[in-house]
Amino acid sequence: MRDVYIIGTGMTIFGEVWQSSLRDLYVEAALKAIGDAGVDHIDSMYVGTMSSGLFVGQEHIASLLSDYLGSGGIPSTRVESACASGGLSVRQAYFEIASGASDIVLAGGVEKMNDGGDVTYALATAADQEYEAFHGVTFPGLYAMIARAHMHQYGTTREMLAEIAVKNHENGADNPHAQFQMKITREAVLQSTMVADPLRLLDCSPVTDGAAAVILCSEEVARKSGHPLVKIRTSAQATGPIALHARKNPATIPAVATAAKKAYQAAGTTPEQLDLVEVHDCFTIAELVVLEELGLFARGKAGQAILDGQTRRSGKIPVNTSGGLKSKGHPVGATGVAQIIEIVEQLNHTAGKRQIEKARLGLAQNMGGSGGSCVIHILEGLS
Ligand code: COA
Repeated sequence: MRDVYIIGTGMTIFGEVWQSSLRDLYVEAALKAIGDAGVDHIDSMYVGTMSSGLFVGQEHIASLLSDYLGSGGIPSTRVESACASGGLSVRQAYFEIASGASDIVLAGGVEKMNDGGDVTYALATAADQEYEAFHGVTFPGLYAMIARAHMHQYGTTREMLAEIAVKNHENGADNPHAQFQMKITREAVLQSTMVADPLRLLDCSPVTDGAAAVILCSEEVARKSGHPLVKIRTSAQATGPIALHARKNPATIPAVATAAKKAYQAAGTTPEQLDLVEVHDCFTIAELVVLEELGLFARGKAGQAILDGQTRRSGKIPVNTSGGLKSKGHPVGATGVAQIIEIVEQLNHTAGKRQIEKARLGLAQNMGGSGGSCVIHILEGLS
């Protein structure tokens, strides 16, 4: 397998983007990434989208978007793994370069969630229909059950969860692409509207329109480009039970632990060597559980570490310097690509006010539904 590099990134603003359609969003991000990379062509492209059919009634999306991008004729492939579709898009592009089949590949993700579709219904199709969705459970409800289980088993508190939202909004306030660029207080989280007990409005990621794209290439193309070198050390993927009742312990997300183990092994790293991580905080409890599954904290210990500030930009392991899904927004198919963009910017030292010192090794963790699928990338800055 050949080494794979990222030489270009581009994303739209995340939020309620009424002026742009799904195709506008994808093409805007793609053109920015192509321009940033400075390449005059792409060999092929991938599109991660969870449910363009249910959100805006558009399927056959890969062909539509390559045509609208002006790249008609090249291979264009849609990939789907619920909210992990973006991470999977990057993974497919990674293998296409690593195998030697292509030299320059565009990996993008997009979702247009605010355009009339029944958002809650569309999202819930990523849960187990027969055992969960048919009975009326939606994602806030599923993550609320994970939160209750974690509180019961490990003494996790509301304050610990609230602190995750506070920290992510603090980071998002410095991200010009973020949906919510405002700081919030712990009290505001604890007093916000109840959505699914114990999760409140400010524990939830929002409904978001947006797109993100990256250009992956071979080492030869990367070195010729003159760009700072960011290498994908590894791409790992795992699946697990999508239904909560099918997990041995509902306070865990086994697919994350499995993907993390594969990623650390393939990259020859340990969690302690990471300088920063972007994790899938679709709800505050998700960030806490994922940090434990990644091995960054022992089970039941992440909550106190979060309260102690260990996951802040100045902390031991900065988590979600982009603002995470909570503040930056969560256009489901684009999220995994946007996470990778944050890591690339940090490794290139172009993250502006969000920049953390000495960023060299970063991990992006993207998952689908309540954790039935997980994609992890570890990136290394070589410049
Ligand atoms: N965080 C902060 N503020 C939010 C918010 C969020 N997640 N979601 C909405 N708001 C704000 C809106 O900006 C709006 O503010 P305004 O009155 O000042 O304009 C207000 O809250 C009401 O917005 P509205 O769109 O009516 O909220 P809603 O009640 O329809 O939806 C949630 C709120 C939490 C139910 C919705 O955002 C949601 O379903 N989030 C989870 C998405 C999800 O499941 N993703 C997949 C994860 S696996």
